[in-house]
Amino acid sequence: MAKTVIRFGVIGCGLMGKEFASASARWCHLEHVDFEPRIVAVCDANPAAAQWFLNQVPSVEHAYTDYKDLLADASIDAVYCAVPHNLHESIYIDIIQSGKHLLGEKPFGIDKKANSAIQEAILAHPNVMVRSSSEFPFFPGAQQLVRWVNEGRFGTIIEVEAGFWHSSDLDPNKAINWKRRIATNGEYGCMGDLGLHVLHLPLRFGWKPANVRAMLSKIIHERPDGKGGMAACETWDNAILACEVNIEKQKFPMILSTKRMAPGHANTWFIRIQGTAFSAEYSTKNPKQIASLPYEPGGSQAWHVVDVPYKSAYDTITGGIFEFGFSDSILQMWAAFCDELLHGKEMVQSFHCATPDEAAGSHMVFTAALESEQTGETVTIDWRE
Ligand SMILES: NC(=O)c1ccc[n+]([C@@H]2O[C@H](COP(=O)([O-])OP(=O)(O)OC[C@H]3O[C@@H](n4cnc5c(N)ncnc54)[C@H](O)[C@@H]3O)[C@@H](O)[C@H]2O)c1
Repeated sequence: MAKTVIRFGVIGCGLMGKEFASASARWCHLEHVDFEPRIVAVCDANPAAAQWFLNQVPSVEHAYTDYKDLLADASIDAVYCAVPHNLHESIYIDIIQSGKHLLGEKPFGIDKKANSAIQEAILAHPNVMVRSSSEFPFFPGAQQLVRWVNEGRFGTIIEVEAGFWHSSDLDPNKAINWKRRIATNGEYGCMGDLGLHVLHLPLRFGWKPANVRAMLSKIIHERPDGKGGMAACETWDNAILACEVNIEKQKFPMILSTKRMAPGHANTWFIRIQGTAFSAEYSTKNPKQIASLPYEPGGSQAWHVVDVPYKSAYDTITGGIFEFGFSDSILQMWAAFCDELLHGKEMVQSFHCATPDEAAGSHMVFTAALESEQTGETVTIDWRE
């Protein structure tokens, strides 16, 4: 199939920038797609990070240290931007104003004010497509759960729980980095880092929290600074948000948690939905498994646990019996971005990447959560804002 090439620039050549390079390098993994990303330029303030791309990605024509030089290249169609949170506002706005499409990293601004400024730039440039990175819903098990929600299987929702749990920060000897400092990561702490991953599906399903009571924890107060001394850890390590959702005459509790200190969890993203007619659970802890419990009044209550086939949003060369992983979800997310860029509403499949409105929704929740932590009160979220 002939493929339309989308010429990409990458700003921020760290952990996530490289994940995009890897996904684009194995585009042949995907079947039946008529689009293909090509990374032609990169930018990083640290030349050594950009050098990795020059060494590994033959399509890169230019490497810059100032992103404005990359934006001046009229041959670039779209940009992936993966930089620390304090830089989202200025760089995302400049990208949007340059007329290039953007897949930005969450949380889409260090705080709500920064996010609103990004939203204004998006409104002023309706021809620019902007989406946020959030890959976990592309796991086949999560896609199955999305189909069940769209089919209205659950009956009356009883309760929802969604979370994203890490544990590498349990090691007190892990050195500090920008993700543990307020100036670079923001007041949201672990919510800014992990929270859009947790809220992406609930917000896609229309489950906007009407209010939130937050319990935020700082567990480790200082870490090695990498120079022989210690540095203060300023950001929230763990967050538990007890929310209430009011939709279509249904009112149910939704517990959202983002944790950097969850013993035993390397990178566990999960969602559990309990309903009167159907319940389901999916977790990347056991990425092949999905559990469901259909219920007829008076009938038995038996969980069915099955291995989900490798059946992702976009067809691939991988056989159905094999395992799906993190880098596969990144590849699928990139396919969704390129597909929507090229085909708009006529995408090959309908599950699109997280939208700026969904990112803005996550800011509404995190900002209310900070207020709740400060006051000890349940904070109402006004979605008309
Ligand atoms: N989707 C995910 O699963 C996921 C995972 C981790 C991080 N992230 C997000 O990705 C973003 C980046 O995180 P990361 O883990 O890749 O960080 P990182 O520290 O590995 O990489 C960030 C890069 O940005 C570069 N940089 C800093 N200032 C710059 C500037 N002015 N111009 C150009 N480059 C600059 C740094 O030198 C670094 O190479 C954050 O928004 C983070 O929340 C997403």
